[in-house]
Amino acid sequence: MADQKIYQASTTAPVNIAVVKYWGKRDPKLNLPQLLNLSNSLQADLRTHTTAACSASFPASDSLLLNSSPQDVTGARTQACFRELRSLRAALEASDSSLPELSTLPLKIVSENNFPTAAGLASSAAGFAALVRAIANLYELSSSPTELSRIARQGSGSACRSLFGGYVAWQMGTKDDGSDSLAVEVAPASHWPTMRALILVASAKQKKVSSTSGMQTTVATSELFQRRAEIVVPKHMKEMEKAIKEKDFEAFGRVTMMESNSFHSTCSDTFPPIRYMNDVSWAAVGVVEDINRKAGKIVAAYTFDAGPNAVIYYEEANTDIVAGVVKGALGSVSGWESRDIKPQASDVLDAADV
Ligand code: DP6
Repeated sequence: MADQKIYQASTTAPVNIAVVKYWGKRDPKLNLPQLLNLSNSLQADLRTHTTAACSASFPASDSLLLNSSPQDVTGARTQACFRELRSLRAALEASDSSLPELSTLPLKIVSENNFPTAAGLASSAAGFAALVRAIANLYELSSSPTELSRIARQGSGSACRSLFGGYVAWQMGTKDDGSDSLAVEVAPASHWPTMRALILVASAKQKKVSSTSGMQTTVATSELFQRRAEIVVPKHMKEMEKAIKEKDFEAFGRVTMMESNSFHSTCSDTFPPIRYMNDVSWAAVGVVEDINRKAGKIVAAYTFDAGPNAVIYYEEANTDIVAGVVKGALGSVSGWESRDIKPQASDVLDAADV
């Protein structure tokens, strides 16, 4: 009788928020980006926890449960991740006959997000990164996070950055097979221990325009995007890497906000236009501007991905004049309420749907 043993491994991966945004693919199948980009992972608080298991005793087809509901695993993105990981395991098994043959067994994956799924909080990034890392652990692969980023990228582009914590750049690469389009660490989170982020959940609804279809329409129709690709992003990448290296919050904040503005401008310039930010998002921009005006310098920086939720960066020393003021000010904007405030890490401020 075949071995009925259940093999399993668990891991977590953090949500990452781009401070220099990825938008546009030069290869939609391999998720190869048109632009270099850089993110900051939001440690510990916002994450996907995933367990991967395999056994001859499982039903024959692979399965994935996300927050207790069954997900389709037959899509090309998930299949690409499974295929790549199985082939790495098969190569290991071929080189060492004492290893159990796990590469042919059905997989059962169980994932939990502790934040709203698909509402512009990079759920697919943490999700695919955790899935890839969990299966790599199950298969006892010795691959580095950068090597695994090549696989996670095929699940969701931004997922390649969630294999790391801290500050991570996703290199465009030049090869057609995507083998050099990888995530690399710019600095670990410990490099800038006073950095804080506050998450403002303006809506937990699923976004209307998915990143994939949105970015393809932008590339096809927005002339502003051309300028962004040729001039704006290369400049912002250089400035951002320098700001992080020097722990220069004013420079970090300025580039973060200008990047967010540039990205959402290309969304508006898309035909038909894409609108991810809503009135509550703009209220958050106003509050950050007021805070910075009062402080006489940039002490808070907003950024928005493909959804209305804001991430506001600040340094620990400015907690009262940033996080305190944001919570106070937005508390009076209809629809907002605060929840689960943890001063040491990423805070989550929740709001009813608007
Ligand atoms: C605005 O990684 O979700 O958050 O590769 O199609 O899965 P796919 O797109 P996705 O796009 C993220 C876009 C962004 C910016 C960013 O995270 O860099």
